[in-house]
Amino acid sequence: MTVQPPATGDVALPPVPWPRLFAERARSMRGSPIRELQEISLKPGIISFAGGMPADELFPIDEFCNACERVLRTHGSRALQYATTDGIPALREIIAHRASQNGLHVGAQNVLVTTGAQQALDLIGRILIDPGDKILVERPTYIGALQSWSTHQARFLSVGVDDEGLVVDDVEAMLRARPKFIYSIATFQNPTGAVLSIERRRALVRLAARHSVPIVEDDAYGQLRYSGQNVAPLLAVDAEERDTGNATSLGNVLYLGSFSKTLSPGLRVGWVIGPADVITQLNRAKQTADLHTSPLAQSIALDFLQSGFLDRHVERLRLAYAERRDAMLEAMSVSFPTTVTWRAPAGGFFVWVTLPEPLDAATVLIGAIARNVAFVPGAAFSPDRSGSNTLRLNFTHPSPELIREGIARLGPILARLVDRGA
Ligand SMILES: Cc1ncc(COP(=O)(O)O)c(C=O)c1O
Repeated sequence: MTVQPPATGDVALPPVPWPRLFAERARSMRGSPIRELQEISLKPGIISFAGGMPADELFPIDEFCNACERVLRTHGSRALQYATTDGIPALREIIAHRASQNGLHVGAQNVLVTTGAQQALDLIGRILIDPGDKILVERPTYIGALQSWSTHQARFLSVGVDDEGLVVDDVEAMLRARPKFIYSIATFQNPTGAVLSIERRRALVRLAARHSVPIVEDDAYGQLRYSGQNVAPLLAVDAEERDTGNATSLGNVLYLGSFSKTLSPGLRVGWVIGPADVITQLNRAKQTADLHTSPLAQSIALDFLQSGFLDRHVERLRLAYAERRDAMLEAMSVSFPTTVTWRAPAGGFFVWVTLPEPLDAATVLIGAIARNVAFVPGAAFSPDRSGSNTLRLNFTHPSPELIREGIARLGPILARLVDRGA
């Protein structure tokens, strides 16, 4: 039997005007400059300080193979079947247990496993942000949070960051504008690497509580400290200031964690800790977002936590990343002009650089790309696009040798532009 092709008629069908069909919400979606730079970074020969990526060669591939095999052989159907939205109970329990320190009590009911911390940001937007709501952010801050909450049609208020983190003295005036919540990357801030001092943490949680404005604490980098002493997360400081030891039933902080920087961003496993009624609401939002986070990925993370491997691996990462940070700082002090300054980070992924004004980091980037080096100009991290004379350098992805080479290429470009007063 021959099948006749459908009659097409003489008239071509009109094109579909997709952009006109996009919802209001979609119009406020912006691409991240980092994602765009990532394409350039993939060009062969480019030394990229642009992305916020862990080192490829430090991924524990053999351990992943072994954990995968163990998980599939012992919990195969749990790992491959549909799962509950809130996450594998044993994983929620171990996350709760590890967060329960210094008198702070967190239970599994206070934990929602998410598809990376990025999903937690989106879910928080879904349950807390009405169009036009204001969010108080650090300036500069993580672009992914700005992108996510722009989608929910938020507006941003911002307060600057200095060597001790968010300038908390400037927060009170902003709270009068009634932001819906405060977003803080208190430890090894992205992009500045700053750590909010304990005094400021105490002041911030008290201030936020007095004004009934919750805090979203994003702790994506907190475990990656290379020097100095740990500072308690805002979640714990809030509990301490309340003197209840139970930030999770009464507290004012939603805490975001992730395995992306310590295990693998490809795993896509993160979590939120918060009061149980907020977790329930976030769970409802997650049901429509993705039903649940991959149970295979969750089971692998759980295996690494239960066996103690993750903690040993983080120790190895700390040593390797400290070496890369030091290589970058040393190379910068050799080849950057003395008018260029930077903050030496005690942890995290980034060095934040300030150029003498009126030098624009976007101009430097053009010269850098011509010499096969990439970084992110700092203005991308501010909702008001301020900080055009700043830039962010990642030191965890390139090897120490490539770091030295890349910084040696950047030095003369900076020197030339500084001399020209560009
Ligand atoms: C501050 C911050 N929060 C969240 C994320 C997203 O992390 P995840 O891979 O867990 O979604 C990142 C990633 O770079 C980040 O820097």
